[in-house]
Amino acid sequence: MRTRPFPPWPVVTEDEKEAVMKVAESGRWGHILTPQAEQFRERFAEYHNVDYAILATSGSTALEIALRNAGIGSGDEVITPPTTWVATNLAPVMVGADPVFADVRPDTYCMDPDRIEEAITSRTKAIIPVHIGGYLCDMDRIMQIADKHGLVVIEDCAQAHGARYKDNVVGSIGHWGCFSFEKSKLMTAGEGGMVITNDENLSDSVFGILGADGEQAERIAEGRKNVGWNYRMTEFQVAILLIQLDRLQEQQNKRIDNAEYLKKRLLEIEGLEPLNQGVAQNYYSYVFRYDCAYWQDISKQRFMAALVAEGIPLFSTPSHQIPAYRSPYFHSPRKSYDKVYCPVAEKAFSEEAIGFQATWMLLGEKADMDDIVNAILKIRQNIEELL
Ligand SMILES: Cc1ncc(COP(=O)(O)O)c(C=O)c1O
Repeated sequence: MRTRPFPPWPVVTEDEKEAVMKVAESGRWGHILTPQAEQFRERFAEYHNVDYAILATSGSTALEIALRNAGIGSGDEVITPPTTWVATNLAPVMVGADPVFADVRPDTYCMDPDRIEEAITSRTKAIIPVHIGGYLCDMDRIMQIADKHGLVVIEDCAQAHGARYKDNVVGSIGHWGCFSFEKSKLMTAGEGGMVITNDENLSDSVFGILGADGEQAERIAEGRKNVGWNYRMTEFQVAILLIQLDRLQEQQNKRIDNAEYLKKRLLEIEGLEPLNQGVAQNYYSYVFRYDCAYWQDISKQRFMAALVAEGIPLFSTPSHQIPAYRSPYFHSPRKSYDKVYCPVAEKAFSEEAIGFQATWMLLGEKADMDDIVNAILKIRQNIEELL
């Protein structure tokens, strides 16, 4: 059906090349206290309408920084979803806490507030809702539950840059918001991360605002008790991310436009149902639910293989095909998650959920969206060949 590639990612223009060359020639390749880094932090904070934005080396370290600064540690429990990249679930482990899995809603694959409430124990200290693929968590209910039980909320926005939940950009609704700038993400510098918050204690926290060694000496001189650590980003990354922030809205609009078109066309096909789209979400992945009853009982895996054979790339990494608690990380002699079973997530991975990388595929034209739909229609017309 299709042999042409989808649009490339990352988008590289003269702006990126110029910005990187400027840093190269300046000879100032590192240290976070540069005017450019300050500018990026200020602009990112302003965009999210929060007081602080802290640069980090990755989305994983951003989550770790938020957890440490929120005082989460040994003996604590942190509620996380099974439908995420495993870094979300491992971040609590990195600070000595235990992740607890709460199942997701079938219409968004984001954590179900009812399941969060059921998972709360006397050891629960935090919740990490993940706006998975850019689909939006029910933040109103999650914040209500957190308020009621005195829990910290750390939004994992690694896949949702720029998405809006009601009047707020995601990351600014919980007490902390964490972002990744890894190569496939909606803003990218190859690697990188960011933490945002309104918490004024942040600057005197375990990792400090900057994790810069020079800073550390100053902080000790000021009588602050906490030391820093190296989670610094390079100046090259900052230069590129400033440009990416400028482009975020325009790219998001294009994805939303294509997603709405795709939804309309997919809804015409029986047995496929796009997930519940937010009004102004961003799309890291585009996901629809497959019901094999309408496809002569052909398994999701077989349907996906046929779609890939038609030239439509789909998610194929194991992280997107098993609930996170089944990952080898969670089967150690120290603590076993063997008995954890989240039915909605299990069904999503084994039977239902089909997704593709929207970061770049939704930056295509309507003709690219038509190719996706026409490939599906071709499978329908030739379904006997798959029996
Ligand atoms: C939902 C989610 N959380 C956390 C991370 C971790 O980000 P990073 O790869 O930058 O460490 C990722 C990215 O891979 C992610 O998709």
